Amino acid sequence: MSRTLSDFLLASKEQVDRQLADFSGGHAMTSPCLAESLAAITRASQYALINSGKRIRPVMVYAAARAVGHEGAGTDLDHIACALEIVHSYSLVHDDLPAMDDDDLRRGKPSLHKAYDEATAILVGDGLQARAFELLADAPGLGAEQRIAMVKVLAKAAGPAGMVGGQFIDIQATGSDMTLEQLQAMHSLKTGALIRASLALGGIAAGASEQQLAALDEYGTHIGLAFQVVDDILDVESDTETLGKTQGKDAEANKPTYVKLLGLDGAKAEAQTLLNAALDAVDSFDSSADHLRDLARYIVERSH
Ligand code: IPE
Ligand code: IPE
Ligand code: MG
Ligand code: MG
Ligand code: MG
Repeated sequence: MSRTLSDFLLASKEQVDRQLADFSGGHAMTSPCLAESLAAITRASQYALINSGKRIRPVMVYAAARAVGHEGAGTDLDHIACALEIVHSYSLVHDDLPAMDDDDLRRGKPSLHKAYDEATAILVGDGLQARAFELLADAPGLGAEQRIAMVKVLAKAAGPAGMVGGQFIDIQATGSDMTLEQLQAMHSLKTGALIRASLALGGIAAGASEQQLAALDEYGTHIGLAFQVVDDILDVESDTETLGKTQGKDAEANKPTYVKLLGLDGAKAEAQTLLNAALDAVDSFDSSADHLRDLARYIVERSH
């Protein structure tokens, strides 16, 4: 991550890396006669999770909770933070499948279907998604109402009204043209929805007011869209080694992207406008939201 990130954000990322290793542990004890096979899917799931992912969504959970007064990277946020990262990691495993983006490289390593096979990649994705909801249902230190609210928000954000819907439109639209309005709607779903959910879940866990949740959501709407605009820019401007995924895939596949519609300069200007809008959205917060401000700048200025 960028050197400009605060110690809090870096500590949150390290906390997520540690917890993911714990939360993706084996299930072999449940069926001893199948222990070996179950250990194999656990290993494949860990391949998807324990790697060089930037952990932006889980770090956002901690930053959002801090913005509304939650103290420190407390353990009751770990389940929630990891649930977000696990859903995101599942979406990447499926995004890379031959039937989708057909990408051989992810987080600097062969994509899961390359390291294993397609059936394993599909099942790992399915399993990770279920595991994320299990973690939310089990989140310690929170009331049943909070946990149900979090499950509902994440389910909507991950499903057809969110990430899956955006991914579906992306696949349908590959090779054809989109208006800017359509592209924005698609990006907001496929990438923005999980980012907004990260903020909402951090806020809910920390007991945010309706007004605070609305401000977090507005921040998330802008920075979530900016995130995918920058991803489109990096696909053109960066290189495969820095990205840890194949550079130039969007143009090769003729994907509708911000760069295709607005050009590189136009896309960069749009990312800056969205960054400013995200910062404005948290204007009413005091310095407790500095981590969110820091994260927003990182998202727009990152190199991978
Ligand atoms: C990549 O997400 C996919 C998008 C939604 C644009 P990230 O850039 O957060 O990927 P990782 O998690 O760091 O690998
Ligand atoms: C993927 O967008 C968004 C997801 C929901 C996974 P991309 O297809 O642009 O993501 P990368 O560039 O492969 O990481
Ligand atoms: Mg894709
Ligand atoms: Mg892709
Ligand atoms: Mg991309």
